[in-house]
Amino acid sequence: MTILGIETSCDETSAAIVSKKSTDTFATVHTNIIATSLALHAKTGGIIPETAAREQIKYILPVIQEALQKGLDFKIKKNNIPPIDAIAVTYGPGLIGSLLVGVETAKTLSYVWNKPLIPVNHLIGHIYANWLQSTDVILSLTENPDSRFHENDQRDIPFPALALIVSGGHTDLVLIKQHGNLKVIGGTRDDAAGEAFDKIGRLLGLPYPAGPFIEQKAKKGDPKRFIFPRPLIGSTDFDFSFSGLKSAVFREVQNLQRHSGLSRIDSGVANAPQNDRVLDEKTICDISRGVQDAIIAVLVKKTMKAAKAYNAKSILLSGGVAANQMLRDTFEQTTNDQRLTTKLFAPAKNLCTDNAAMIATAAFYNPKKSDWKTLTANPELYFEE
Ligand code: KG4
Ligand code: ZN
Repeated sequence: MTILGIETSCDETSAAIVSKKSTDTFATVHTNIIATSLALHAKTGGIIPETAAREQIKYILPVIQEALQKGLDFKIKKNNIPPIDAIAVTYGPGLIGSLLVGVETAKTLSYVWNKPLIPVNHLIGHIYANWLQSTDVILSLTENPDSRFHENDQRDIPFPALALIVSGGHTDLVLIKQHGNLKVIGGTRDDAAGEAFDKIGRLLGLPYPAGPFIEQKAKKGDPKRFIFPRPLIGSTDFDFSFSGLKSAVFREVQNLQRHSGLSRIDSGVANAPQNDRVLDEKTICDISRGVQDAIIAVLVKKTMKAAKAYNAKSILLSGGVAANQMLRDTFEQTTNDQRLTTKLFAPAKNLCTDNAAMIATAAFYNPKKSDWKTLTANPELYFEE
């Protein structure tokens, strides 16, 4: 079976061709085309929804055309129908203007080509990036702590699985008992982890999205100079909160600026939004390290606690923040230290951020079809009970 996936929830316009035989455990990506309007948003330090939607309209048809051409060697012509079995599209959550472009395009193609339409929740899409062929098994069982990759295990994600979704808009812990049986067991009460990276990055004069820049700066940072709060790390529930961390960093930056008497942040990165006060490069690196350590400490502690409470056999990292190497390493280290048998999975880094391959993949395992006449975009979509 072959699915054309379409993803337009935010500033990425993506179309992918993904296939899976009924006997396969994992899906295979043939092509995953992504156009992004990120450069337009980098200077302003955040997404401008109207701009993102306009760019989506510009890119959507060329991106779909390229995916069909590269993935199936198919050219769109009159009366020519591509050899696909269904069209999967993100219908929420996301920016309404952006979502509408993908949803309305998918509905039109479903009608014209007479192909089934499968609506996909963007968050479930992130989780299912773990069911793509290129999935990294980042940790194996503790019977052999030296071996990170067990070839036999690589084709199997055991249930119950616990998914940590860490993206720009979400920080959720989701228990998956089996395909189609998902239950949210915790989420953020305010800012998402990616949002915390982005807002703090803006404070430091780093470009949007700041997560990857903070990761780079943190590599050179001193882990002892700034110890920031780890909100809710000891709470009995599985919720997260990151806005207090952002406020703590803000106060620290204000203090440093008052004492330095300097007048402009210079992050040393082209296109970065310039703040009107300076922090030196070393301080930016040290703060980045402190921030990254605080976010990772909370994510790992809470996830491991939930994994134990629900006897999860595997932990699946997903969403843009899962591309962070230190986050992956800390999960691996902690699982090893605690000699847990829980298996750890994360998608290849380029499949952690928004893409259509993950949307097509989710459709294979959750194939609820919809009618093109009734499907509507839902910007507030969360997990159905
Ligand atoms: O999943 P995603 O592409 O979009 C949403 O659905 O939100 O996630 C984007 C988020 C941004 O907040 C970005 O700063 C963060 O993922 N991110 C990272 C890294 N790469 C992307 N955060 C930390 N470290 C990274 N390497
Ligand atoms: Zn996303």
